[in-house]
Parts: sequence; C-alpha cells; structure tokens
Amino acid sequence: MTIKEYLQHTAALVEKQLQEILTAPSPREETLFAAMRHSVLAGGKRLRPALFLATLQACGKDGKGYLPFAAALEMIHTYSLIHDDLPAMDNDDLRRGKPTCHKVYGEANAILAGDALLTHAFAVMAEQPAPARPLLQAIAWAARQAGVDGMVAGQAADVAAAGQEIDEDLLRYIYRGKTGALFSASIISAAYLAEAGEERIETLKRYSDLLGYIFQIVDDVLDIQGDAAILGKPIGSDAKNAKTTYATLLGCDAAMAYATELAAQARELLWAWPEEAEILREMPSFFCARKL
Ligand code: IPE
Ligand code: IPE
Ligand code: MG
Ligand code: MG
Ligand code: MG
Repeated sequence: MTIKEYLQHTAALVEKQLQEILTAPSPREETLFAAMRHSVLAGGKRLRPALFLATLQACGKDGKGYLPFAAALEMIHTYSLIHDDLPAMDNDDLRRGKPTCHKVYGEANAILAGDALLTHAFAVMAEQPAPARPLLQAIAWAARQAGVDGMVAGQAADVAAAGQEIDEDLLRYIYRGKTGALFSASIISAAYLAEAGEERIETLKRYSDLLGYIFQIVDDVLDIQGDAAILGKPIGSDAKNAKTTYATLLGCDAAMAYATELAAQARELLWAWPEEAEILREMPSFFCARKL
C-alpha cells in the first residue's frame, strides 16, 4: 500500500467512527452536535488518526479494535482548529473548504463545540476496550500533550508572540507545542497501547517532535505560497496576524530545505525498525511534499 492509499483507507475507517460518535442523543443537543459535525465531518486529512494506527502497526498491534481512540484524536485536533480560527485567535473565515464554525454557528456555539469535542474525546478514549494500565498511560499522555505540556501551551505562546520579533528557540518551543504535541499524543498513545518498550517510545518521541517541526514549517510556507482552493483555508493568515514563522525567519526556500533535512533525520530514527514501520518512515517526506 502506498502512503496515499494508506491515508485514504484509514480516513474512511475513521470517518465512519466519527459519524457514529457525533450523533446527538436528543433534539435538545441538535445545535451543539450540528456545530461539532460541521467542523469534524468537513473532510480533514485525518493525519493524526493515521499516525496513531500506523504506530500501532509499527509496534506489531492490529489497529482494528482501536478506531474509537483514533477518532477521539481527530476530535481533539478539530477542537484545536475551531478555537484557532476564532476572532480572538487567528480570526479566519475558511477551514476545510467551508466557512469556519463561528461563521456558521456564532462564536458561543463554536467555543462550546470545541469544548464538547475535547471533553467527549476523553470519554471515548476511556471507554476504549483495552487493558487498563496501557490505556491509562495512553490517555494521560494524550491529555498532557493536548494541554499544558503541549498544544494549549504552544497556542498560548503563539498568541503572546504575535507582533513580536522572536528567536528560533522560542519558535521551536511554539511549534513543538501547537503542532508537534498532537502528533506526539497520537503516536505515543499508540505506543503505550501496543506496550512498546521504553527504548522504542523514546525514539518515537523524538520522531513525533521532528514531524511537528516539519509539518508546521511546511504549513507556514503554504500560508505564503499555497493555494487556498487546495488548502481549504485562507493563505496570508500569518502575515495578517503578524506572526513570526520559519518562513519569515529564513525565507520560504531555506525553510523548506530545513524541513527536508529534518525529514531525513526523522526517517533515519526508524531505519532499523521492521517492514511494518514503513508508513512511519515515509511520513516525513510525504509531509514535505504536501500541497494540502
Ligand atoms: C492544521 O492541521 C493545523 C496545523 C497544525 C498546521 P492539518 O493540516 O492536519 O488540518 P486538517 O486536519 O487536514 O484539516
Ligand atoms: C495552529 O497553527 C495549530 C493548531 C490549530 C493547534 P496555525 O494557526 O498555523 O494552523 P492553521 O494554518 O490555521 O491551520
Ligand atoms: Mg494559529
Ligand atoms: Mg490558524
Ligand atoms: Mg498556519
């Protein structure tokens, strides 16, 4: 299976799971669920569930029974997008080729849809049939990475840095948090569920961080040179918000060269892993080549 086929295959499985999870229990929750579904079921790339499933595979575990956990990771990611687009944050109007959640449902409902996706994701994770100890380790890791040890901390630093001249050290902290942390949540939770050993988990932590840097650097370049019709989100968002990015710090060409160098390092980390890790080995260069 090529990486493209793998992503299509896993996206279809996750899509079905999300459809099931995001059904309103009664008409009273209809608007809340409509706002959640608007953003979640708008056709994202489903990269975090794919990384979760690819890591289970790389660690010798069949992912079939773990689709609820995979879908929950996508719910956390989508919540981060809904809040990231709010007027108080990046103030963007287009996401996944559709008007952003707050544009359609209003700010209050968009905030609440994000809250609901985040909270419900952890309920779905906790209800995942799996042995208790590894499941708790996976959930605790995901919670820390989604929150104060990761994404929320990174977004807070990103907001604080808007309009400021910042150095590369702080930029790396921001990228590790706002982007790398949800890759880490996806990959390391899978490693815990597969009961991978400490050495493998340490390698995957380094791999996840590299993926975060690579992905966000390419995102920054696409925000300048990309095509909004393909991306399904506006270009020029970073300039509008006076964000320092790798693309503004180094220029687009040097930023892409750096991402390519990091991709080689990420692949190298997994060179001795079995054939089952091939999707993970190919992911870094797939991230570099993406236009979407
Ligand atoms: C966008 O993530 C947010 C960033 C971390 C840059 P994706 O590019 O994975 O968005 P979707 O899920 O495909 O919409
Ligand atoms: C956001 O980075 C990362 C999160 C949503 C946590 P960006 O603000 O660059 O993401 P996009 O470009 O809006 O997708
Ligand atoms: Mg942002
Ligand atoms: Mg944004
Ligand atoms: Mg961006």
